[in-house]
This record gives sequence, C-alpha cells and structure tokens, in this order.
Amino acid sequence: MTSRSAGSEEPYLRGRSVLVVGATGGIGEGVTRALLALGATVVGAGRDPDRLGALADYAGGIGPGTLRTHLVDVSNPDSAAVRAQLAERYGQFDGAVLTVGNWGPPGRTSLLEVSDEVWDAMIADNLTSHFRALRAITPLLDPEGALVHLTGFSAEIPYPGNALVGATNAAKKSLLRTLTAELGGKGPRIHELVIGPIRTRPRAAMGADSPSWLGAEDLGRHAGELVAGRGPWSTEPLQYLLDRASGVLTELPR
Ligand SMILES: NC(=O)c1ccc[n+]([C@@H]2O[C@H](COP(=O)([O-])OP(=O)(O)OC[C@H]3O[C@@H](n4cnc5c(N)ncnc54)[C@H](OP(=O)(O)O)[C@@H]3O)[C@@H](O)[C@H]2O)c1
Repeated sequence: MTSRSAGSEEPYLRGRSVLVVGATGGIGEGVTRALLALGATVVGAGRDPDRLGALADYAGGIGPGTLRTHLVDVSNPDSAAVRAQLAERYGQFDGAVLTVGNWGPPGRTSLLEVSDEVWDAMIADNLTSHFRALRAITPLLDPEGALVHLTGFSAEIPYPGNALVGATNAAKKSLLRTLTAELGGKGPRIHELVIGPIRTRPRAAMGADSPSWLGAEDLGRHAGELVAGRGPWSTEPLQYLLDRASGVLTELPR
C-alpha cells in the first residue's frame, strides 16, 4: 500500500455517492478528502455544526468530487427516522464508511478503576452508536455497493489502561462479522477493516505520529477501491491494515 497525495489518481468514483459517518473526525476528514479526489459525491455526516463547517473548509475544495455535509446523529435510537431523513435527501448510496468513536478520558486507567460513568459513555459512543449506525445505514446501500467499517487493532490484544477501547473494538468486530454472515452475500458487501495507529491531523497535533503508520487518506483510497469493487480486496470481508510495511492482510500475522 503506497502513500499518494490527493488528486493524483484516476477519478473512478465519479457518479458514485459515499456516506462518511464520523467525517468530522481525524480519520473521517482524511477519508473524505481521498474519496473526493477519486471523484465521489461524499456526504460527510456528523453531529456538530461547527465541526461540519471545519470539515467543509478542510475538504470542500478537493475535486473532482463534491462534498455535502449533513448534520445527523447516527446514534439516535430512532434509526428509521435517521434512515428516512438520509433517504429523502440523497436516495441510495453506493458506499458508506463508518469511522466513529470516543478515545475516552486522557491518560490510562486500569480496568478495575474504570468508573460507571466512563463505562457507559464508552459503550454508548463505541458500541451502541455503531449498532445504531449499521441499523440505520445498511438498508440505504445499493446491494452492489459496500459498507466499510473501521475497528482498532486493540480488538485482538490485551489493552492495559484502555480496557473499554479494546473491549468495544472486539465487540464491534464481532458485530460486523455477524452482519456479513447474516447478509450471506445478499446486499452490500461488508468490509471490516481492523486498523493499527493511523496518521491524522488531531493525533499529529498531540505528538502521536509516525511515517511507518498508514494515513487517513490511505484508508480513504482503500475504501474507495472497496466501494468501487476494484482490486484484490473487494471480495475480502475481514482485512487488517496495521502499518505501511504490512500492507493489507486477511489474517493476523503469527
Ligand atoms: N486514529 C487512529 O489512530 C485510530 C486507530 C485505531 C482505531 N481508531 C478508531 O477509529 C475511530 C475514529 O478515530 P479518529 O482518530 O478519527 O477519532 P476522532 O478524531 O476522535 O473522531 C471521532 C469521530 O467519531 C464521531 N463520534 C463520536 N462519538 C459518536 C457517537 N456517539 N455518534 C456518532 N458519532 C460519534 C465524532 O463525531 P462528532 O463530530 O459528531 O462528535 C468524530 O467524527 C475511533 O473509534 C478510534 O478509536 C482510530
């Protein structure tokens, strides 16, 4: 997997629409830019008007695609209403990328010290929100299209000091694998991407950055290929994108 700058690729997503849920986040904004560079019409969804405005400033000028920002809370329990609102405005989508979550309070807390308040917030933002987003959005996708969901690699390993990030990642991976099995090839392709640390603007601003990591735009270009059904990975439901050197794997390295 190589790193290319926005705008250097054939715009093969021209005429296709992709919903990015969590477009206001560090990964989401990079995914949005990459999909725009590939020619997609991107609906960037988020809950905060100011953050959606910042997304428009950062990504809106990237062509040849078109960015539309959309204020919506996919974690709203009324998934039918969320779905109806999106359907009325945009109709069916060719693809969706789900990249939402909450890193939790700063610092590390051992599992036995986690408060009920933090537990509830982490389950709400990192698990319930994903369940409700899947419930709202999956039926909006073209059956020939693809849903791309991101889960952190802490799904696979003990994660001392961040137990709820790891636990919810493991649970999200389980949800996506079950959804893939339940759809049984009927409906959009489901791609669960288990990701290592990703270069994003907010993380870099906090001093967390490494050239060995994949960038948010790399994830966006990969998601673009999956939405288009191009390349070697578009038939693979479970993929690991751990770092630049490893590329794309379909099982964990031993
Ligand atoms: N960056 C990495 O290195 C990395 C690595 C592995 C896994 N991940 C996971 O990938 C996800 C995104 O990471 P990130 O770095 O982009 O995080 P981020 O910059 O904090 O962005 C989080 C995004 O999630 C949205 N969000 C949070 N809670 C939500 C909820 N309950 N309902 C709907 N949207 C919600 C936020 O939207 P609003 O603007 O509406 O608040 C924001 O767009 C996280 O789950 C993170 O754990 C990231």
